[in-house]
Amino acid sequence: MTTTIFSTAEERIADQVARAAQEGLSARPRHLPPWLFYDEAGSRLFEQITRLPEYYLTRTERAILNAHAGQIIALAAAGQPLRIAEIGAGSADKTRPLLAAAVHLQGAVIYEPVDVSASAIAVAQQRIEEEMAGVTVAPHTEDYTARLELDPALPGERRLVLYIGSSIGNFEPDDAARLLAKVRAALAPGDTLLLGVDMVKEASALLAAYDDAAGVTAAFNRNILVRLNRELGADFRPQSFAHRALWNQAASRIEMHLESLDPQTVHLRALDQRLEFTAGERIHTENSYKYRPGQAEALLAHAGFCTVAAWTDSAATFTVLLGRTA
Ligand code: AVI
Repeated sequence: MTTTIFSTAEERIADQVARAAQEGLSARPRHLPPWLFYDEAGSRLFEQITRLPEYYLTRTERAILNAHAGQIIALAAAGQPLRIAEIGAGSADKTRPLLAAAVHLQGAVIYEPVDVSASAIAVAQQRIEEEMAGVTVAPHTEDYTARLELDPALPGERRLVLYIGSSIGNFEPDDAARLLAKVRAALAPGDTLLLGVDMVKEASALLAAYDDAAGVTAAFNRNILVRLNRELGADFRPQSFAHRALWNQAASRIEMHLESLDPQTVHLRALDQRLEFTAGERIHTENSYKYRPGQAEALLAHAGFCTVAAWTDSAATFTVLLGRTA
């Protein structure tokens, strides 16, 4: 086994990008991992997606959290002081009603956002500390999919971990189970996890959410090629790849692909690699799993959480579940 030592986080990320492209683009079918979407431009495009009329997920989850924040926090605290951690926190926009409810209940709260992006967390920290009296932000810059270490809670304190935004849907079922087990391992008995999941619904609504009329999701998907051009010296012509969103009913997931419109050759200079695409050949870039009633509860149970309560919208489009460690 060879061990590579990286002197900076940038070097480590550059190595991960190179490996992901090398492995995924020479495989059949070709694929790229969805974390590659989130460079600066991709993160901005994702923020735009969350405001699109077709992308019901963010506003529905936000409405659920706004409506039930007091009850969620009271259940999680169960009469003890509560601290709140959030994995994949990003801009932490949807977290505010929960933090406000915790401040309302106990006067002050420690909020521990965990994210790979130090810059996203720094922005969230500044905004929250400026705008929310009573909230102390204790950030962790960490790739929570690889490692999750939280500061020890104080004696008598309970911890609530938030995993909202339906990002769990971007993991393969086995990886989702492993991730939740990792969260469980970082928690103590009586601690809780709040999980947001998107539900199965009519294919037309799902497809519209991942193929919007304004083309923002298409730009988000193609941005992965723009990123490889910049970071690996590739010569993809992004416009010669069509954005495809498909509903895979059997696997219960939306799939995103980039489909080569012509036969074409692409070079990846940094990898000294040459790729031949046939017309119609696809690169699979993302799965977004949608849950059926009972599936998220089963996933939580498998990871060692017992579902205490679940909240949904009137059309049962999206579900937020609270699981307590057994
Ligand atoms: C981040 N994640 C929950 C989004 C989703 O809906 O699966 C990513 C996304 N992909 C296309 N649109 C949004």
